[in-house]
Amino acid sequence: MGISAGLSLLATRHAAARVAAMCYERRMASSPTPAAGFRRPVPLDRATRLLNHGPTVLVSAEHAGRRNVMAAAWNMALDFAPPKVAVVIDKIAFTRGLIEASGRFALSVPVRAQAALTTAIGGTTGKEVDKEAALAGLAWIDEPSSTSPLVEGCAAWLDCRLIPEPHNQQAYDLFLGEVIGAWADRRVYSEGRWHFEGFDDLRTLHHVAGGHYLLPGESVDG
Ligand SMILES: Cc1cc2nc3c(=O)[nH]c(=O)nc-3n(C[C@H](O)[C@H](O)[C@H](O)COP(=O)(O)O)c2cc1C
Repeated sequence: MGISAGLSLLATRHAAARVAAMCYERRMASSPTPAAGFRRPVPLDRATRLLNHGPTVLVSAEHAGRRNVMAAAWNMALDFAPPKVAVVIDKIAFTRGLIEASGRFALSVPVRAQAALTTAIGGTTGKEVDKEAALAGLAWIDEPSSTSPLVEGCAAWLDCRLIPEPHNQQAYDLFLGEVIGAWADRRVYSEGRWHFEGFDDLRTLHHVAGGHYLLPGESVDG
């Protein structure tokens, strides 16, 4: 492909992504969730910022009336428009089957106050326990516009459509998703920036090993 054809393809892709983002924002604006509390929609073209600082996430999915959630430290943003994410989901995870069956998953970004819950979610399997019943503190958000369950009490949420890549899934346990909905707690994220000052319990978790995490510290502009 020549450079001008390449640039025009890029421009078309970005125009399509802008239209999709406008439709998304209009849909979000016209259907406010009654119990949203501090949760606010995040423009889709900024959704990857919710992961840019490298937090551990909770991966949830639902199929045939069964909901489940696991922890995943190995996740990252992949693209702006349309926004995409990647997450490693081991074959032993019960959540993996729910994702493959439903074609959907959500990432919720847990916080300091949920450190023990996050370790417990990642240390138990839905094959053996109903985590919702077994783990105190695990609750779902009533967010009708999300296609997968979102975990209550987190700082940010990304609703994703699985981009099926059977080879990557099988060979590398690598799952890709297009972000189709995004929200963040406005107390710690607004206008494209995280700002944790004054909200220590809402600092996100950055996994080191076992049940040990680092918290994000101060910010700096370069
Ligand atoms: C902090 C933390 C991070 C984890 N990161 C990942 C990960 O990136 N990928 C993965 O496949 N499993 C990861 N795990 C393990 C899964 O969460 C674990 O296998 C879980 O039991 C799967 O739950 P499920 O079987 O109910 O789906 C992690 C666990 C913890 C505690």
